[in-house]
Amino acid sequence: MLDEQLRHTIQQMPKAELHIHIEGSLEPELIFALAQRNGVTLAYPSVEMLREAYAFSDLQSFLDIYYAGASVLLTEQDFYDMTASYLARAAADNVRHAEIFFDPQTHTARGVPFATVIDGIWRACQDAPISAALIMCFLRHLSEEEALVTLEESLPHRDKFIGVGLDSSEVGHPPEKFARVFERARQLGLRLVAHAGEEGPPAYIESALDVLKVERIDHGVRCLESPALVERLVRERMALTVCPLSNIKLRVFDVMGSHNLRTLLDKGLAATVNSDDPAYFGGYMNDNFIAAFEALPLDASHARQLARNSFEAAFVDPEKKRAFLAEVDAFFANTD
Ligand code: HPA
Ligand code: ZN
Repeated sequence: MLDEQLRHTIQQMPKAELHIHIEGSLEPELIFALAQRNGVTLAYPSVEMLREAYAFSDLQSFLDIYYAGASVLLTEQDFYDMTASYLARAAADNVRHAEIFFDPQTHTARGVPFATVIDGIWRACQDAPISAALIMCFLRHLSEEEALVTLEESLPHRDKFIGVGLDSSEVGHPPEKFARVFERARQLGLRLVAHAGEEGPPAYIESALDVLKVERIDHGVRCLESPALVERLVRERMALTVCPLSNIKLRVFDVMGSHNLRTLLDKGLAATVNSDDPAYFGGYMNDNFIAAFEALPLDASHARQLARNSFEAAFVDPEKKRAFLAEVDAFFANTD
C-alpha cells in the first residue's frame, strides 16, 4: 500500500495536466442528463449499464463508445457544462494548469457548428478556477483534406486555442499523413503535439518529430523499443504525456506493475502523468498518480520530478513557467 505521507504529497503537489480529451471527461451521469435535456436516445438504458460497457480490449473498442457518448453534446451550454465540470475536478486535484484537447470533427460531422463547440469549451476555460488552454485535435482516421477544412474553419477562433494535436485510431494512420496540415498550423504560429507510440511503433514517434515537427509526444510509451530514439528524446528534452490508467484500460500494458513509467524516468526522459479520458479510464489526475505510485517503485523524488516535468513541458510563457516551478520547489522544500 502507498505510504500515507507519499499519498498526501501526490495529492497536494501543484501539477499541470497536458493530456486530457475534454470529451473523455464526460461522466455517464452527465451523458444521461444531457441526453434527457436534448431529447437524444441512448443505446444504453441506464447509467449503470453504460458504465458496464466500459470494458475495452484496445484503443478502437474505446473510441467506438467514446464517440457514441459525445453524441449527446449539442448546445454551447452542453460544452460549457462538460468543461466546467472537468476544470472543477482538476482544481480539486491541485492541477494548476491544464492544456485541454478537443475534437471538433466529432461534432461538426453531426451538424454541430464549430463555433458552438469552441465557444462553450472556451467560455468555461475563461471562468475556470485554474489556468487553462485549448489544443484542437484532428481525427487521424479521417483524411488530411478534412483536417485542412477544420483548420480553416477554426481561423475565426484563432485566439481561443494555442495549438493542434492528432488523436483517434493510431495504427494505419501515421503522422506523415498529416504533413501539410501541421505545416500550415506551424505557419500560423500554433503549438504542435501528436499522439504517437501508444499502440503505434517507434517509427510513428520519429515521423511525428521529423515530419510534423511536434513539440511534445502524447503517450510515447513504445519509445523504449528503440534505444536510438530514447537517446534522441532525452537529448532533445522531448516531453512524453504518459497516461497510466489509460494504458492499462486499453491494454497497452497488462497490469500497472508492468507499466514503464519508472523506466522512462530512469532513462532521463521528460515523462509526465496525465488522465487522457478520466470518465472512461477510472480516474482523474491524482487517481493516475496514486495508481502508478502504488504499483511501481516510485517515491517523493519521482513525484517532484513528474510535477516539474509537467510545468517544464507546458506551453506557458517563461515567467509563468518559472512561477509554477518555484511553487513546486517551495512545496517540496516544505515536505522535507
Ligand atoms: N488515443 C487516441 N485517441 C484518443 C485517445 C487516446 O488515448 N483518447 C481520446 N482520443
Ligand atoms: Zn489521448
